[in-house]
Amino acid sequence: MSKKKIVLAYSGGLDTSVIIKWLMERDYEVICYMGDVGQGADTKIGKERALQIGAKKCIVGDLKKEFITGYAFKALKAGALYQGKYNLATALSRPLIAEAMVRVAEKEKASAVAHGCTGKGNDQVRFEVTFHQKAPKLEVIAPVREWELTTRESEVDYAKKHKIPIEQTKKRLYSIDVNLWGISVESGKLEDPWTEPPKDTYISITDPEKAPGKAKYITVTFKKGVPVAINGRKYDPVKLVAKLNEIGGAHGVGRVDMIEDRLVGIKSREVYEAPASEILYTAHTALEELVLDRETRRHKVLLAERYAELVYYGLWFTPLKSSIDAFVDSTQKDVSGDVKLKLYKGSVTVAGRKSPKSRYNKKLATYGKGDIFDQSLAKGFIDLWAMPYRK
Ligand code: ARG
Repeated sequence: MSKKKIVLAYSGGLDTSVIIKWLMERDYEVICYMGDVGQGADTKIGKERALQIGAKKCIVGDLKKEFITGYAFKALKAGALYQGKYNLATALSRPLIAEAMVRVAEKEKASAVAHGCTGKGNDQVRFEVTFHQKAPKLEVIAPVREWELTTRESEVDYAKKHKIPIEQTKKRLYSIDVNLWGISVESGKLEDPWTEPPKDTYISITDPEKAPGKAKYITVTFKKGVPVAINGRKYDPVKLVAKLNEIGGAHGVGRVDMIEDRLVGIKSREVYEAPASEILYTAHTALEELVLDRETRRHKVLLAERYAELVYYGLWFTPLKSSIDAFVDSTQKDVSGDVKLKLYKGSVTVAGRKSPKSRYNKKLATYGKGDIFDQSLAKGFIDLWAMPYRK
């Protein structure tokens, strides 16, 4: 009988490297899949390592463009932030990677898929919900959830025993997930909510205290809710985000430190770094303030929270999420224009906004010359407004 084929979500790190061998010991033929969402890991080295350990194949998929345009920018347009703070960078990448793995599994005629998530986190849910939706017949294996290698020492021992190359034998300080849209850092010293994030938790952002003492101004241009240019220069979506990460990161912008509620019921401490996203959320909101009518703005805020929850809960490929996307897209037809931003020692503030679709009417708003607002109408308006509450 031929071996069962399994597609593994492979990162190149210790856990998933050990998983290759662990699956081989259980008689699987392992096909590794590395989804490149801008984590900056060397996929070439990863691929070599996977093959050296004994994977049959290692397939690398460039998902960066799809990740930014089909996932991150959708969340941006919706204004989605989980519990008001987290831009969902990790959460957004999971359904995309899982779907890509399903495609590989179909092509390779694999009967199973595997991932390296623990049984305590959200990511296992996001991967597996997508597997169940896209290919319900695939067997799903989560080695870290069931194996006996429960300590780092036992994992390192196992790796040594099986000649699995490990680069960083030194103690792993934090658990870090990186992609273009953001970096998630947890565990280690961060597990004490009273402890200020140590300096060594800064991965890509300059410590605001060490950022330049002179503010930097940039202008971001949006077309239908999507950012298209910086300082008048057009960028493709992936380069635009990379550029804003660089500029924002240099000024200490984009750090979030929060206690969040995981889907599995645990509160956890997380530190995030997402300079581009912080700049873009700030700018996008400023533009919406200018162009959207009051009731649309108000309704959109309600849906933003639901949207963030759906993404966080792994419910990306669901009817409600698609319906909210449709609503959001219809609100974005006028969200075009420029936003001027000031970056300074960790903060990003709006310094100006303009749009050909602006609803701001200076003639109505002004307290100066040229006022066309008929103040005599206000009395009748207020009398009726208050009528139901008058004794
Ligand atoms: N808490 C975040 C989420 O559930 C990030 C999870 C991954 N974090 C990590 N440091 N490995 O989306």
